[in-house]
Amino acid sequence: MKSWGVGQRPEPYEGPKANGGTRRDGRGEPAVYHSNLVSNGSPPLLLAHLSDLHATAVAPSGLRELANKRVLGWLSWRRRRRFEHLDFVLEALIADLPASGASHVAVTGDLTHVGLPSEIAEAAGWLARIGPPERVSLVPGNHDAYAPSRAADPWAPWRAYMESQGADGLDVGTGAGEARFPFVRRLGHAALIGVSSARPTAPLLATGRVGAAQRERLESILRKLGDEGVCRVVLIHHPPVRAGQSRRRQLDDAGALRALLARTGAELVLHGHTHRSHFDALPGPHAPIPVVGVPSSSSVGAKEARRARYHVYRIEHAGPRRFSVSYEVRGFDPATRRFASEGGGAL
Ligand SMILES: [Fe+2]
Repeated sequence: MKSWGVGQRPEPYEGPKANGGTRRDGRGEPAVYHSNLVSNGSPPLLLAHLSDLHATAVAPSGLRELANKRVLGWLSWRRRRRFEHLDFVLEALIADLPASGASHVAVTGDLTHVGLPSEIAEAAGWLARIGPPERVSLVPGNHDAYAPSRAADPWAPWRAYMESQGADGLDVGTGAGEARFPFVRRLGHAALIGVSSARPTAPLLATGRVGAAQRERLESILRKLGDEGVCRVVLIHHPPVRAGQSRRRQLDDAGALRALLARTGAELVLHGHTHRSHFDALPGPHAPIPVVGVPSSSSVGAKEARRARYHVYRIEHAGPRRFSVSYEVRGFDPATRRFASEGGGAL
């Protein structure tokens, strides 16, 4: 295991600051990022991975909003979750992001508890704090699709964080809600491919599904980007591996997704959902595909394994169709109430 020295990172620069990067309540400053956006042959890409922010208050506007599965989620939040996921932890993470050296942030879902419209709006304030849409990419989680919505686009306040960039000629999703996935965002020699596994489920289930239509587009995208020799980083909330999850929390079409990845390959798969660090690998056509999950960004850590952490990936172009990927773990220290490096390694 090796950790990165600060001297290995590019020099920070002051800006651009996040668009509209203040919270709705006016507190706090947005994160400021470093200038290591890359083109082929240029400096490495540093990509931060956050997940499962759960940084919202469940405040239904009336009983009607809880007249479904959401009443169970509301009870869970009242009894337990509101004492585990705390604003000051996420505040500390946002304050730490500039020190990570990351130029882009990937967020793999579960920004809310029960996906109420008021929570979606509140979470948009946190996203603005993390960074502007061109520097932050988001896929939703099962809590963000907790119950069926009558809205044409329930995630509309997050739309700019889920839009493709530089994806001409690729079979990306278009439309609202689930139909907008996969999206593709090019970052120099890398591309982020955002996949949605979030869809409403029956009470007591936290399962996910990518679905045949999205998988078909994903296969086309991964093949084309693979032919280009781009470093393909897939973002998805549910892990495509078992990752210690019960069937009640699994990705229902994980087998089909694994078979797809075995055909197309990918250089890295990043997920959330488990609220724990998880390192795994899937077979690819030429080399194993690293699959890495990150704990919740806001957990105060009553259980050590669930204490808030985020990961920072360093993705270097190492020759034609070759990349070296290493990572740093940055974790919340309850004593100092700050995040600090906990080491890292190579994938
Ligand atoms: Fe979660």
